Amino acid sequence: MTATELRLRTFDRIVFFTGAGMSAESGVPTYRGKGGIWREYDFERYACQAAFDRDPDAVWEFHNFRRGLVAACDPNDGHRLIAELEAHRSNTCVITQNIDGLHQLAGSEQVTELHGSLWRCRCDQCGAHHTARENPKAPIHCECGAYWRPDIVWFGDQLESSNLDAAVAAMKACDLFVSVGTSGVVFPAADLPLVAKKNGATLIEINPDVTPISEVYDVCLRGTASAMLATLAGD
Ligand code: APR
Repeated sequence: MTATELRLRTFDRIVFFTGAGMSAESGVPTYRGKGGIWREYDFERYACQAAFDRDPDAVWEFHNFRRGLVAACDPNDGHRLIAELEAHRSNTCVITQNIDGLHQLAGSEQVTELHGSLWRCRCDQCGAHHTARENPKAPIHCECGAYWRPDIVWFGDQLESSNLDAAVAAMKACDLFVSVGTSGVVFPAADLPLVAKKNGATLIEINPDVTPISEVYDVCLRGTASAMLATLAGD
């Protein structure tokens, strides 16, 4: 199937599976590309449970830096297009690896955040939760006195089973799977395209670059998220 043969209207149940490249045009750095976060910061010092247990202040300094940076970023045309498609077509959903909340800010409602959210904190001492998008600097201590923990899936963490179950169910139900801006190297999220393929969905990859699983896709649209989503939706 070629890109020009693709017509969104011929599909009933669409999953948009997004990664950091979805938000690149909004000014949010990706993780592994040029200027990527993990090229500048060692995740073993700033974004894993052992680092948080060892030095919670350093972890919070890193996450407040990221919250401040993302708070200044707006959804891009790609986020808005996906939200519009969802508004006009039932059975459209977003399964995102991103923690920036830009899909929701653009108006998407059916969003599963596989890796948590930069805007949510939880207290592993007393079970309290706290959300504050408007306030980039999160309070560091819960009322019980323990440190708030960013409610993010860090390397080595298990994904929330309810989120993973929702993602797998969406993969099994969709007839079109559109991956946007992910390098496809972090598991178990990177396995999700294979679940959709096994269930007979058509797979589209939107990414300026080739990825390790590009050959799994039926069509690869080599360009940026907003431009290629506009091409896809332009039917
Ligand atoms: N439009 C579309 N794709 C883009 C754009 C753009 N404007 N700019 C870059 N990309 C692509 C890159 O080519 C790359 O393949 O987005 C991808 C980003 O890859 P990563 O930085 O690895 O981000 P992601 O795939 O989301 O990482 C997955 O790894 O570090 C963990 O938890 C973190 O959720 C993250 C996970």
